[in-house]
Amino acid sequence: MKFSIKTDHPEKQRSDVLVLGVYDSLKVAYDKPILSISTINYIASILKHGDMSGKAGSSLILYNVPGIKIPKILLIGLGKEKELDGKKYCAAVRAMIYALKKMDVKTISSYIQIAPVIESDIAWNIEHFINEVMDASYEFAELKTINKKTKKTFDFLVNVDKKNQKVAEAALKKSFALAKGIELTKTLGNLPPNICTPTYLGKKAQEIGKEHGMKIDVLDQKQIEKLKMGSFLGVAKGSRQPPKFIILQHNKGKKTQKPIILVGKGITFDAGGISIKPAGDMDEMKYDMCGAASVLGTFETIGLLNLPMNVIGIIPTCENLPDGLAVKPGDILTSMSGQTIEVLNTDAEGRLILCDALTYAERFNPEVVIDIATLTGACVIALGHHASALYSNDDKLAKDLESAGQISMDRVWRMPLWEDYQSQLDSNFADMANIGGRAGGSITAACFLSRFAKKYKWAHLDIAGTAWKSGKAKGATGRPVGLLTQYILNKIY
Ligand code: BES
Ligand code: MN
Ligand code: ZN
Repeated sequence: MKFSIKTDHPEKQRSDVLVLGVYDSLKVAYDKPILSISTINYIASILKHGDMSGKAGSSLILYNVPGIKIPKILLIGLGKEKELDGKKYCAAVRAMIYALKKMDVKTISSYIQIAPVIESDIAWNIEHFINEVMDASYEFAELKTINKKTKKTFDFLVNVDKKNQKVAEAALKKSFALAKGIELTKTLGNLPPNICTPTYLGKKAQEIGKEHGMKIDVLDQKQIEKLKMGSFLGVAKGSRQPPKFIILQHNKGKKTQKPIILVGKGITFDAGGISIKPAGDMDEMKYDMCGAASVLGTFETIGLLNLPMNVIGIIPTCENLPDGLAVKPGDILTSMSGQTIEVLNTDAEGRLILCDALTYAERFNPEVVIDIATLTGACVIALGHHASALYSNDDKLAKDLESAGQISMDRVWRMPLWEDYQSQLDSNFADMANIGGRAGGSITAACFLSRFAKKYKWAHLDIAGTAWKSGKAKGATGRPVGLLTQYILNKIY
């Protein structure tokens, strides 16, 4: 996909197809400034035939419209003029992509992004135009040898008013970098677990670091042992794939600026361990490294943008498998913090690898620490697939993440971290148990992590319901790279 910002009138531009938005009143969005009266009247006369409703998502192709050099016009419905919000706008952009895929076109002159969207500006429109186009045209077919659809790539001429050219170009740069980060996150998630191992994630981190001038460390088993990460190593014991502990450092901010730290759960396959999971849909546990993938994707984006910030990524990564040497229910592990943990269910492994990463984060004297994890099935029951769960010990941090979620349309919903829940983690034999029972399962998982995040401002994102889609549309979503990137950008501007 290629995108370039243009400031032409459609009457002058040359391309294969012109895309215009149409309201359900059958009026072309933003018609006066871009079309001549005769063209507006001509299109209106065709729409009178009733073949297009203008409802959100509807479409119609016109050929050889007088006065326009471009041979085809694709009209995309935007629904009610006064009700064009961000969601409907994004749906219209997706409808455009689905229509374009069926056409024989390569270069596209688009004008739908100049339609006024409630509570947004041209920068937002451009960003979400690119985001939707990239998302709707993503495919993971690298490992198919038959029935491969040929992927269509388009060349988009994204037209704006001349006065908005600079803003639009900045928005394009930002959203293209974001799209690249999201794409990487999706692909890492979709890769099969026999390819995407802890070692593979370590190599990817090194590639990203080399590309963007970041400092990367990939610690091996011995180095992890030296750090006394007994909890993380407990989980890793059941697998023959060696664990890795990955640290990425993007140090492009002032020396005095404390770093933002992102910690991602990197379980490259979660069979549950000795507390083994049922067989149905177990393949989806290849997505249990989506937290890690979102950290790598965010680093790809901030690297491409060369953001003047200090950001550190921390990824504990291993497999969770049953084995003769695997951690067993009843085992007690000593975490890097010194706190002891009775493992009552080996399938609650995410918190066991994250707690040591949270302790490790202390050494960087962070501004904030945000962990991202496909942590609990209970989170999916609580919030479904639309919002990621947000937990935080700091109200300002929580608010900042909520508003970054709104802007990026990658939303979070804050959950309680009350003291009342903590006693569910009581253990008769260790400082705590690794599970808190069925009630409030996402909350008690967060409570567990909070015990290792007392020394700094911390937020936890449970992305179990948002990181991938199941069923026919099975695939990683790339969330919450949009949210994390927006949160970091908001710190600069
Ligand atoms: N990776 C899973 C959480 C998960 C399950 C995410 C299904 C998305 C879909 C996590 O490691 C896990 O197994 N959690 C257990 C915790 C339980 C044993 C307390 C769960 O949610 O069932
Ligand atoms: Mn598990
Ligand atoms: Zn897991």
